[in-house]
Amino acid sequence: MSSTADDDPSQFYTGLVAELYEPLASHLPAIEPIRRFVTRYGGPSLELACGAGHPMLPLIEEGFVIHGVDASDDMLDLCRAKARSKGLEPTLFHQRMQDLNVPYRYQSCYIAGASFCLIEQLDEAQRTLDAVFAHLRPGGAFLLSTFRPNPRVEGAQPSQLTRNDGSVISVAAISASEDRGSQLVRTRLRYRVKRSGEVPETVEKDWGVRWYSAAQLKGMLVRAGFDVGRFVDFDGRDATPETTDLWTVAVKTTQPTFAS
Ligand SMILES: C[S@@+](CC[C@H](N)C(=O)[O-])C[C@H]1O[C@@H](n2cnc3c(N)ncnc32)[C@H](O)[C@@H]1O
Repeated sequence: MSSTADDDPSQFYTGLVAELYEPLASHLPAIEPIRRFVTRYGGPSLELACGAGHPMLPLIEEGFVIHGVDASDDMLDLCRAKARSKGLEPTLFHQRMQDLNVPYRYQSCYIAGASFCLIEQLDEAQRTLDAVFAHLRPGGAFLLSTFRPNPRVEGAQPSQLTRNDGSVISVAAISASEDRGSQLVRTRLRYRVKRSGEVPETVEKDWGVRWYSAAQLKGMLVRAGFDVGRFVDFDGRDATPETTDLWTVAVKTTQPTFAS
């Protein structure tokens, strides 16, 4: 299914959303599981949906070789600016992960912070996993993490940021709905920019997150060609149907060849 620029979910993290992402993020993706994964499976590595560069940039600073791909030019600009301030020049690609096509092959690939759930269509999720498989070297591994969002917005407080020019941007979730059939939670966010003496400017945007069961993820990974390991939660315990964060490592196993 194709989307126009306005309704393409991969374009959600642009403009005000990109500007507010890191300053107002309630938490950034944990670095430790990614560091353990890249240490174990080796580089070069590729981070899908690398955004403003967390955890990619701290890991590059530690000496890991990691390239990044993201659908938002605004997020990549933030990443480049942050990288420059650290004296880094990462290799970045402006692409949607479902259209991944870069001239490198990787030993490992990961997606942090469950950004895989930003892909709303099953066929696009499958296309992403097929593309990851194609970009891995034989024996390479993919770390996939997903989560099941909570569709409640009651009590959510607006978060705000004061810019250098004194204007204030705030964002608040104003409604959320869950479609269990399509496994989609859609949250309506209201962004407001207030400059002194002016009528506030308001923009509303929908943030869609699709969740996947372990069986669905396993099915898609196997169809892409991977050998799939256990599904666990953040603490490494075997996933149950109630687990809200799913982690797995899928490997592009090389087939042994036998002399006849
Ligand atoms: C929650 S942010 C996380 C970014 C990064 N981990 C960070 O903390 O800076 C999600 C990122 O996914 C990117 N994104 C969303 N859909 C995408 C897609 N289909 N392909 C590639 N990137 C996508 C967005 O542009 C955004 O930068």
